[in-house]
Amino acid sequence: MNELDQLVAAAQADFDTAHTPAELENAKARFLGRAGRVTELLKTLGALPVEQKKARGAEINQAKAGIESALQARREALARAELDAQLRAEALDVTLPGRGRGTGGMHPVSRTIERIEAIFASMGFDVAEGPEIETDWMSFTALNNPENHPARSMQDTFYVDMQDAQGRWLNLRPHTSPMQVRYAKAHAAKYAGVHPMPELRVLAPGRVYRVDSDATHSPMFHQCEGLWIGENISFKDLKVVFSDFIGRFFETDDFDVRFRPSFFPFTEPSAEIDIRFGSGPLAGRWLEVAGSGQVHPSVVRNYDLDPETCIGFAFGMGADRLAMLRYGIDDLRLMFDGDLRFLRQFN
Ligand code: PHE
Repeated sequence: MNELDQLVAAAQADFDTAHTPAELENAKARFLGRAGRVTELLKTLGALPVEQKKARGAEINQAKAGIESALQARREALARAELDAQLRAEALDVTLPGRGRGTGGMHPVSRTIERIEAIFASMGFDVAEGPEIETDWMSFTALNNPENHPARSMQDTFYVDMQDAQGRWLNLRPHTSPMQVRYAKAHAAKYAGVHPMPELRVLAPGRVYRVDSDATHSPMFHQCEGLWIGENISFKDLKVVFSDFIGRFFETDDFDVRFRPSFFPFTEPSAEIDIRFGSGPLAGRWLEVAGSGQVHPSVVRNYDLDPETCIGFAFGMGADRLAMLRYGIDDLRLMFDGDLRFLRQFN
């Protein structure tokens, strides 16, 4: 190896020990800088005879080119190493599952209410929602509850520490029955003076509140109120409508419906509606699903309608209860605990 080849090899070795761009620049200066070894060699050319100058100059320049390309290769290697280190430091684990937003799902009670609404809508019932904070008059008085009726007591009803503009105390409605009054009054106003008055058919679903809490009672639960008023709507129509509903809701013909005499101040006669399946896991047991009856004449009067010409039935059913029966759920509290492991099963 001649001394120029040795010089190139020495530069190569020197560059290879540089691990940062700054170290590499220092190494470069030692060979190619103003006082570097290549520069020193070039300076010796001046002293040579003209005939040797050209050949020696070419040799030195060739060595210089070799050193420059070694320098360039090392620069690139350092840059690549730096980039690799940076990429490693900022590495993303693309195998991690994404944090996508869940799409959400429908609550079994909402699903049940939609199902009930659809069945009644197909029988010509309008669907109406109303306020959950009601006046005493709407929740009780208009529905024929006497002033001292126990349902009004604070043991049963949640009161709101607030009065409306007329100074009436407010409550969280203990049933959806105030919607009978609200909807029928609006209907009466809309068709005032129209004879015969068009029939009124409405289903009013929503939240209701009572001071009650155990495996089968929740302080908040859901009811669906039904009301059908016309010139000649009777208990027979209630039986047909409700039985038809039950068959369609549970998708079976194998059931009985029983109207068990009962009492509500706003209906006369009144009945609890029980159902009994002939097959399936609930077969043979009577299950109470609704309260019902022919609307009391005093209540019809509170609708602003004439009980001589307007008659019909109302019912109020527990939507949570129907959801539990349909899905085979035995504890009402599961519905409102918000446990996703439970809720996801319905979506
Ligand atoms: N409002 C009654 C209840 O909550 C149910 C009912 C509604 C009864 C309509 C008769 C008519 O228990």
